[in-house]
Amino acid sequence: MSEEHRGGYDIEHHTELSIDPETQRQLAELLDVCFPDTFSGRTYYKQLPYARLLLRCDGELAGQAGMDFRVIRVGDQVLRALGVIDLCVAPRFRGQKRAGALLDRVAKIAEQGRADFQILFADEPALYVAKGYLAVEPARMSWLAIEDRASRGVVAREMGGVFMVRPVGSASFPKGAIDLLGYLF
Ligand SMILES: CC(C)(COP(=O)(O)OP(=O)(O)OC[C@H]1O[C@@H](n2cnc3c(N)ncnc32)[C@H](O)[C@@H]1OP(=O)(O)O)[C@@H](O)C(=O)NCCC(=O)NCCS
Repeated sequence: MSEEHRGGYDIEHHTELSIDPETQRQLAELLDVCFPDTFSGRTYYKQLPYARLLLRCDGELAGQAGMDFRVIRVGDQVLRALGVIDLCVAPRFRGQKRAGALLDRVAKIAEQGRADFQILFADEPALYVAKGYLAVEPARMSWLAIEDRASRGVVAREMGGVFMVRPVGSASFPKGAIDLLGYLF
């Protein structure tokens, strides 16, 4: 869909429907290497994203960021949220700020698309904090639980410290119960 050249690598932005079978095969391999024993040969864990950024180094698929665009409810407010899913860079391309470049590109897309916030879930916050994300605490949250590609009902849990947001404009993330209005990616 669009392409960006940055000193030796490209970041492409594709809607999920436009990804060709060969790239899907490469994505399945990449995700399996980056998240062992998780994807079972698929290109998604719980649900297809709406779009992806594909990082290519000399034509090789070297990383990806899935994106989910949805509205979420926080207290009595409804926000436009761009979610980052399964950010990864293949081991031999790590440590060269390429995940950071993918996050920078997500930030541009969020701005152009007038999202209110970027959101993600992270066990290790350092990379995201460096890119302007903040951990939300407390983060009382409900979502549609999906396990083994079957809906399992709505669950509610405290996700403080793991749930991270980055404002697109100047607004602070509101306080209140968070309803993801869908699955947790
Ligand atoms: C996390 C990951 C995407 C980083 O890719 P990268 O291109 O090496 O990242 P960058 O060079 O842009 O940034 C490096 C920073 O990422 C951070 N980082 C390293 N591993 C990380 C991890 N698993 N999760 C979050 N941040 C991490 C560190 O703060 C590092 O900073 P430092 O070099 O000062 O120590 C890559 O290690 C990866 O794909 N890991 C496996 C999949 C994964 O855990 N993805 C994150 C899901 S939340």
